[in-house]
Amino acid sequence: MFLRRRDLTPEYFDSPERTSTELAEHYEWLGRMNKLTQFDRPFRIWIPELLGVEACKQLSIVDLGAGCGMLGQTLTQFARGHGWDWRFTNVDINLPQPGTKDSTSATWVKASVTDLPFAANSFDLAIGTTMTHHLSSDADVTAHFREARRVARQAVLICDMVRSPFFLIALWAVLVALRAPKEFRQDGVQSVKRGWLESEWRRLAALAGMNKARVWSEHGTRILLAHCLRDGTAEQPDTKETNGPRPSAV
Ligand SMILES: C[S@@+](CC[C@H](N)C(=O)[O-])C[C@H]1O[C@@H](n2cnc3c(N)ncnc32)[C@H](O)[C@@H]1O
Repeated sequence: MFLRRRDLTPEYFDSPERTSTELAEHYEWLGRMNKLTQFDRPFRIWIPELLGVEACKQLSIVDLGAGCGMLGQTLTQFARGHGWDWRFTNVDINLPQPGTKDSTSATWVKASVTDLPFAANSFDLAIGTTMTHHLSSDADVTAHFREARRVARQAVLICDMVRSPFFLIALWAVLVALRAPKEFRQDGVQSVKRGWLESEWRRLAALAGMNKARVWSEHGTRILLAHCLRDGTAEQPDTKETNGPRPSAV
């Protein structure tokens, strides 16, 4: 069956040959696609749902594989709109070029998501989006999930791309229609081929010690993992449907 397994051919974005101009162009296109797909929507919905409104008033959040820090920027504005104070630490193995860093009060740390330079329970929440598919081995993904859980006091919420032929064709068509550069188009398609099935994330989450994590997909395009760690336990909140679909129980 097509896409039964992950195709681990590397994306051009991850190759050492890419120039800083190409990187900047890639991030610009990623920003456009992020806006178009409302990439922050799952976080706007599920963070308050997972933690409760009271806890949302003040949060320290680490964004794993933050890219240009767009998610932190967008969510900082969203939180401000509710009178909440969300502080971001952006982690990435490639830090943005000077002058392109976001204008929020985010802290930037150059590190791999598989080995985070933070003490246990350093943040209320660990999040990440469109990053996990960059990791190639089960060992790296397990380390990424385990590290996210280790540094988070309250919850982990990670989002990435579903591996499906429908999504692959739809994304390719959108990128062609938008006249995205060839490398970005190819990377978009490749990132779906490197993407995930729910069963794979459940298995890897369990290997990372998150047996009770909830894993579900939205719109056939996004896969999400949510793990709540209230009071040091792995109790899961009642994540009933709000304005997003219901996570499937594990
Ligand atoms: C597709 S971009 C997504 C960026 C951002 N999350 C967004 O949605 O705009 C993937 C990011 O993951 C970063 N990345 C890949 N592997 C990583 C690793 N092992 N540790 C930290 N960051 C990584 C890349 O440098 C890149 O910035």
